[in-house]
Amino acid sequence: MPRITTVNKDSLNEAAEIIKSGEIIAFPTETVYGLGADATNGQAIAKIYEAKDRPSFNPLIVHIGVKDNPESYVVMNETARILANAFWPGALTMILPRQNDCPVSELCSVGLPTLALRMPAHKTAQKLLAAANCPIAAPSANRSGTISPTTPTLVADSLGENVPFILADGSCDIGLESTVIDLSGETPVILRPGQITPKDISRVLDQDVQIESGNSDAPKSPGLTLRHYAPATHIRLNAVDIKPGEALLAFGSTKFMGIEGGGAAKDLPDTAIRNLSETQDLNEAAANLFRMLHELDKPEHKAIAIMTIPDVDLGLAINDRLKRAAKAQS
Ligand code: TXA
Ligand code: MG
Repeated sequence: MPRITTVNKDSLNEAAEIIKSGEIIAFPTETVYGLGADATNGQAIAKIYEAKDRPSFNPLIVHIGVKDNPESYVVMNETARILANAFWPGALTMILPRQNDCPVSELCSVGLPTLALRMPAHKTAQKLLAAANCPIAAPSANRSGTISPTTPTLVADSLGENVPFILADGSCDIGLESTVIDLSGETPVILRPGQITPKDISRVLDQDVQIESGNSDAPKSPGLTLRHYAPATHIRLNAVDIKPGEALLAFGSTKFMGIEGGGAAKDLPDTAIRNLSETQDLNEAAANLFRMLHELDKPEHKAIAIMTIPDVDLGLAINDRLKRAAKAQS
């Protein structure tokens, strides 16, 4: 069973050290318990997906400290500023465009140009953020497809050995996930209802706000309604060779990858080849996936040839994304 450790100065420091070392922990927030990792570390983020057994990548909420400047991560518009003033710290998550030099791993945004940001109000969450001194990405701390946990025991029941350390601080006050509002479009849209209601938001903004699901009794996961990132360049899956003009997204050794008509992978210019993981580590591959796809997504490439990635563990989520991207193009 995972270690359930009651919050105090020592356990807080230990939790912060675990986060800094690139590992995951469960921690309390005012809404539900989160499964957290250093948001700037792609390999740490990959461990979140692995622990939750997510068959696909769903973008993650990034939590920031009260002293953090949200502008370091996202482009704040006027609406976002008003809502931050009214509801932060608190149970509101805002989807906004990523800053150009946003330090958060692209795996958090699963390749999208936006980022979900929340400044939690929970004292322990805030102390952890201050001690770890980095933004913390955290979905709810439950196995994929099960309900969000509101106590340390529920976290342990759901994740078992997949979460080695649970920072325990009683049950969550709100017990329902945060309200998610998309502010990246022309008008604000609530993607997930929560304790902060459309009415609360309308009042503060002095305008009506749309609700995406249209039925607040059956909130659908924003992940389902999300537009997925697909490169503009055609992608070719399960490639065993490289066609002239193609870029290569490799997985493992490229020794036997030849270019049709002559040449080998090693003859490709640096700009036309990336390796998700030379050692075939799926965790590393997940961490690199969206950044490398972006880097190879160039008009001068006829297509991106992608080597086969095994359909196990995190490979399932990687292949899910690649198949969706390929389908979006066809
Ligand atoms: O209360 C909460 O929000 C908890 C605590 C831990 O903060 N977290 C939580 O995270 O519920 P999660 O991953 O279970 O739900 C996040 C939701 C997902 O449905 C995801 O699709 C959506 O937010 N989301 C995240 N980033 C997004 C983005 N860039 N665009 C659209 N939706 C996004
Ligand atoms: Mg969840």
